[in-house]
Amino acid sequence: MSYNEFKVPLPVVFGNGAISVLGEKIRELGCKKPLVITEKALVNAGVAVKALDALKASGIDCAVFDEVASDPTCAVVDAAAKIAAGFGADALIGIGGGSSMDTAKAAAIAYETGKPAKEFVLAQPAMINIKIPVVLVPTTAGTGSEVTFVAVITREDVNEKWSVFTNTSLAVIDPELTYSMPKSITANTGLDALAHAAEAMTTNQTNPHSDLFGEAAIAKIFKWLPVAYNEPNNAEARTEMALAANFAGFAFNNPVTHIGHAVADALSKTFHTPHGYNCALALPEALALTAPALPETSAIIAKAMGAALTGNESGAELGTIIADAVRELMRKTGIKPLSEIAKRDDVVALAKDVADNHLSSFCPVEVTTEVAAAMLAKVYDNY
Ligand SMILES: [Fe+2]
Repeated sequence: MSYNEFKVPLPVVFGNGAISVLGEKIRELGCKKPLVITEKALVNAGVAVKALDALKASGIDCAVFDEVASDPTCAVVDAAAKIAAGFGADALIGIGGGSSMDTAKAAAIAYETGKPAKEFVLAQPAMINIKIPVVLVPTTAGTGSEVTFVAVITREDVNEKWSVFTNTSLAVIDPELTYSMPKSITANTGLDALAHAAEAMTTNQTNPHSDLFGEAAIAKIFKWLPVAYNEPNNAEARTEMALAANFAGFAFNNPVTHIGHAVADALSKTFHTPHGYNCALALPEALALTAPALPETSAIIAKAMGAALTGNESGAELGTIIADAVRELMRKTGIKPLSEIAKRDDVVALAKDVADNHLSSFCPVEVTTEVAAAMLAKVYDNY
């Protein structure tokens, strides 16, 4: 017997202007006192205001917690849960990139269970089902967190990015909220979405539904990320990228990611570079590593990237084609080489960390410390 499970976690509202229905949707969920969890930068840029206006227009009284920063910590989650409790929130709304949405997910667990985040953010993540509605509004086109069960939170006591899984209620995706993203964030988050799509297709837990979303996301990202990067107000590019990031979220929600994200986690905690940037650096080598084990899938990925294939390529050759294509996209979107930020020895020294990361167990190639060290050296040398 052979079967797959593909969980679709929640309904999605998608389209330009979709944010205007936020208040209405909160009411449909039976709520009237949500806590909005976001970042100060988004409040200052006027992005969060669109959501707050939509809530106000529906007569909803909300409170705002805007203390989220990149790589949110357990302390931030606990602080948000405390504000939710003080306000008596009946829903949590995460507005922002992965940091805000993941904080909202974890804060909902902390608020409902009364437990501090460090008790449930773990190296081997558990699924915790909650009753309080959590609504997610992405303002980047990257993380896909609006449709995944996972929240990635930094456990500051051990300097690790660990996770928890939970259920959420609704995603509201309005591409217009992504227009004001700086170029570097457009690039980093777009390449994070690419990593989600491509790693999801190359884990040892793949399924046909994920593959379909992944392939579509890869094709969209290769076509539209350079356009969104160069023309921030290009409506078609922003819409296609928002859709691609969402598709990639659906793609990796079930099979999760693998060694590319394990490398990215190690880089994040050591050099404090952005998640999407780290994922971009790792992706060419992650796909080159897995291609010999997955030649058919790698051919699909290469074609989605726009490569012209003869059909006679070996898995290793496909790996080279894919890795080169990703590096070309990285160059087009201003991704800096790791050598500008870190020393080679310090990067290769992360090998044990990468091998020990639970995500590496989803790689179809066994990730020993030696395999991880060889990959980290290539990440450093080949781009
Ligand atoms: Fe990611």
